[in-house]
Amino acid sequence: MQPHSPVDPQDQPHVPGPSLWPVGFAVGVVVLLVGLIVSWWIAGLGALVALAFAFLWVRDLTVGTPLTHTPEVPPESPTGPALPATDGPAAMPLSLSDERFPRSKFLELSTLGLGGVIGGIVTAPALGFMIAPAFLKQGQKDHDLGPLSDFPEGRYVVATYMADAAQGEVSRRTAYVRFNGQQNGQPSFSVISNHCAHLGCPVQPNGPLDEQNKKQHGDVTLIPTISIAGFGCPCHGGQYDTEGNRTSGPPVRALDRYSFSIRNGRLFIGKPFSVSHVDGAGASAQIHKWKLSFPGEPVSGLESWLYPIQPPH
Ligand code: FES
Repeated sequence: MQPHSPVDPQDQPHVPGPSLWPVGFAVGVVVLLVGLIVSWWIAGLGALVALAFAFLWVRDLTVGTPLTHTPEVPPESPTGPALPATDGPAAMPLSLSDERFPRSKFLELSTLGLGGVIGGIVTAPALGFMIAPAFLKQGQKDHDLGPLSDFPEGRYVVATYMADAAQGEVSRRTAYVRFNGQQNGQPSFSVISNHCAHLGCPVQPNGPLDEQNKKQHGDVTLIPTISIAGFGCPCHGGQYDTEGNRTSGPPVRALDRYSFSIRNGRLFIGKPFSVSHVDGAGASAQIHKWKLSFPGEPVSGLESWLYPIQPPH
């Protein structure tokens, strides 16, 4: 029978105790990923939480490693009669604490590191495709619609253009543009989006088009209307007046509009924005402007509280 050898606790490999830091790190990563979709502020908060918990986690793992090893003090010489050779602890026990980097710690850290590298390789391309469009500002460049003389006063013109020539026809947009005359010495325009404020179907002018006076400049096509009584949506019957205000049907707000600018006597269409409603008409209209929202989302009143976060789009 083998003699029993007592195990010195100092010889046990260091095993980190249970910790909540990994849970906090995972929560931070989840908040970061959600933030990338809904808001940069939330993404930043998630990154901070993940970094803080990652720091605490790594610190926990490294505390207690024998990087600051204190040499063992040899036991005092036993007194009394010598023990038989088969009794007592082994003459030269294997002391794990003598290893500068214990094998268990090396495996633990290398596994974490390898997991991090693999996770980064898998995640980086997906994040790149997700984030890059926000920096490329796709579809947000001003577009030249042509000389001001192509827009008769008081009549809507159906303007279609390619928002991104590299993408071709798939990027074609439609806007309804009306020259309202001069306002404070500056030309005034109403530039209305054709995206229905219900589910985004293309709204149509409620009236005939003047195809005889159609104009073409590069990728821009301009067709004046003869006389319209507003705009209508073919999908679910939503109706709007000539300022884009909803008059009936399921849309929840007025039609979105585009900003515009005038350079060297030419009209440029800019970024879209949402509109709750418009008071008045023409050059003196008061436009209640809001951040661009998705179709179906109210932008004012109590119902807008149901949509507190606007993902970037
Ligand atoms: S999408 Fe226009 S009314 Fe429904």
